[in-house]
Amino acid sequence: MLPVVVVHGGAGHIPKERAELSTIGVKEAARTGYVILQKGGSAMDAVVEAVTLMENNPRFNAGRGSVLNVKGEVEMDALVMDGRTLASGAVSAVRRVANPVQLARLVMEKTNHLCLTAEGASKFARSMGVPEVPEESLITDYAKMRWKKNLGPDANPVECQMGKMGTVGAVAVDIDGNIACATSTGGMINKMEGRVGDTPCVGCGGYADNKIGAVSPTGHGEAIMKVTLSRLILFHMEQGMEDPRGGK
Ligand code: GLY
Repeated sequence: MLPVVVVHGGAGHIPKERAELSTIGVKEAARTGYVILQKGGSAMDAVVEAVTLMENNPRFNAGRGSVLNVKGEVEMDALVMDGRTLASGAVSAVRRVANPVQLARLVMEKTNHLCLTAEGASKFARSMGVPEVPEESLITDYAKMRWKKNLGPDANPVECQMGKMGTVGAVAVDIDGNIACATSTGGMINKMEGRVGDTPCVGCGGYADNKIGAVSPTGHGEAIMKVTLSRLILFHMEQGMEDPRGGK
């Protein structure tokens, strides 16, 4: 089967001066995933590697570059799902790890659970030999600047809206026809401490089923969760619903 990988670097407004480097980042992620697939690698390897690249790229709201919560801290969510078995793994509100998507994969592969959260997720990371990174290494000047703009009496709701940065994600089909998805995010800027969005929730922040397809969404988590968007999209695909723009 011809391998396919599709990645996204998040919805939201991308200021002109950041657009070019964001586009380069997304293309690099797609290329990296595709090379893995061309060499016979699994869809899971491809999506995790593509998302890892975007987590390492400070242009995106995931890993390094994540938006900050109300306290100016980084709390991240991530999810992976394997369309062969419907197995999935997730982390929520995790701190001080460089690549939440890799940790989500470890949750899937090494535990009997689906999601680990906050300090429990960090402890699990340490037990798996995942290095703890200083929080400062995840925080960019851009994230700090936007956080300040969104707080206090000088906060500008228009800029807050314009400054939204989306989640990153990838879906892939490998040469064996297996399908996977991965999604990772710093969440919503200025979110409450402990807020968990759609990303680590199966069926909301992603879904993959070899029999149907895969989804990795981006957007406002609270809205996505209302309709379990990823599973809903796959449900409609399963029913044969046509893409209103003309595709299938
Ligand atoms: N879709 C990402 C979030 O709301 O956290």
